[in-house]
Amino acid sequence: MSRRGKFITLEGLDGTGKSTQLRRLAAVLREGGHKVVETREPGGTATGEKIRKVLLDSGTAGLSPLAEMALMFASRAQHIAEVIEPALARGSIVLCDRFTDSTEAYQGSGRRLGSAAVLELHRVLCGGLQPDLTLLLDSDAASSLGRARRRNKRASRQAAASHSDENRFEQETRAFFSRVREGYLAIAKREPGRVAVVDARGTPGQTHRHILEIVGRKLKLTL
Ligand code: TYD
Repeated sequence: MSRRGKFITLEGLDGTGKSTQLRRLAAVLREGGHKVVETREPGGTATGEKIRKVLLDSGTAGLSPLAEMALMFASRAQHIAEVIEPALARGSIVLCDRFTDSTEAYQGSGRRLGSAAVLELHRVLCGGLQPDLTLLLDSDAASSLGRARRRNKRASRQAAASHSDENRFEQETRAFFSRVREGYLAIAKREPGRVAVVDARGTPGQTHRHILEIVGRKLKLTL
């Protein structure tokens, strides 16, 4: 039987460069001979991608904060059952773009639903599954949001034909994203053993090297 794999999550505000860093880390791990699964939330399964459309499309109007939180967890429960747990059981390294810390930061802090509700739902719906390591890409709300908005404008022009976009969260206020960032930093303070804060304001290359150093040291992986 192969040994259980490792579960690594990337977190941070929209536009901190998580997806790029996830791809680069996956490439290095594969070169090192590891089996790697790259995935994301909301999404990661056929059902989850449908839920993602509802959650992120700016055409989704009037979604209540509680319904939003419930949909995030519905996508996650399916993702764990269908992708994450089986991959870990096979001994793969699972790299996931966002996980429950996103719900605690965005719905718990951003939408002010509180951490206790998120942690309780996580316990019930996710069996308390914890990442072995979480990389929190930290940058101030103003600069990361500027990047996310520019990127999504380009993507929306490309998606105009399909009349869908992923802009619903980017329409939130600066104050909302400041609360999300504070929420993330509070999680890092509460769980310093699991969550490593990575300064995401440097070049992508600097951030990548910092991430490799943390992954090598904390998970003792050959890179
Ligand atoms: P993502 O596609 O990762 O956005 P980006 O690439 O811009 O960082 O995530 C989509 C959005 O969903 C993002 O604005 C954060 C939000 N989100 C939550 O509010 N709660 C959650 O639990 C998750 C997983 C995402």
